Amino acid sequence: MSATEVTVRQAVESDDAALLAIEKVAWTAMSGFPSFQELLTETFFTRSGPEAHLVAEHDGAVVGYLRLQEKYKFPEGAGVLAINGLAVAPRARRLGVASALLQAATTEGRRRGARKITLNVHHTNLPARHLYERHGYIVEGTHPREFLIEGAYVDALTMSKTL
Ligand SMILES: CC(C)(COP(=O)(O)OP(=O)(O)OC[C@H]1O[C@@H](n2cnc3c(N)ncnc32)[C@H](O)[C@@H]1OP(=O)(O)O)[C@@H](O)C(=O)NCCC(=O)NCCS
Repeated sequence: MSATEVTVRQAVESDDAALLAIEKVAWTAMSGFPSFQELLTETFFTRSGPEAHLVAEHDGAVVGYLRLQEKYKFPEGAGVLAINGLAVAPRARRLGVASALLQAATTEGRRRGARKITLNVHHTNLPARHLYERHGYIVEGTHPREFLIEGAYVDALTMSKTL
């Protein structure tokens, strides 16, 4: 599979089951928060709805998502978007799915007139850090020992891309 075979579109309500299935297997202690996995319900669109998500498809199957939201709820922060989640089904990794989602987020951000896209990533998550660097994201700041995950302190990095 190449990136050209991946399509990205806005999520719809009927993507819920496919996204929940991805959510259940995509995250590990290296990339996410184990407590979040314990809190998973039977619905993916619990905290934010389809309008906040781009989904990637391959061969008609949903294989990944990116959650893109306004970072701030007040006017002075308008124009800063946040990637508040990005995950690809393990069976569809290293095939350009996340790259297609990030390209779509850039396009969507520019369409909305945003000035940058920001995100947080565990310093331990080298696959994601490589991915973001390849797409022009730079480290804006480091938050040392931000989380305690399975007995180890984890730094959080804030990365951003100027649009
Ligand atoms: C990180 C993640 C989203 C990458 O998705 P993906 O679809 O496999 O990424 P892509 O195929 O688009 O990779 C593009 C580039 O990113 C980098 N990359 C991706 N996975 C990598 C890995 N395991 N190791 C090193 N670099 C990696 C590479 O530079 C890659 O290009 P290449 O394949 O030509 O070498 C996926 O591994 C995932 O869902 N991980 C768990 C959730 C997660 O960490 N989300 C991000 C939280 S901040």
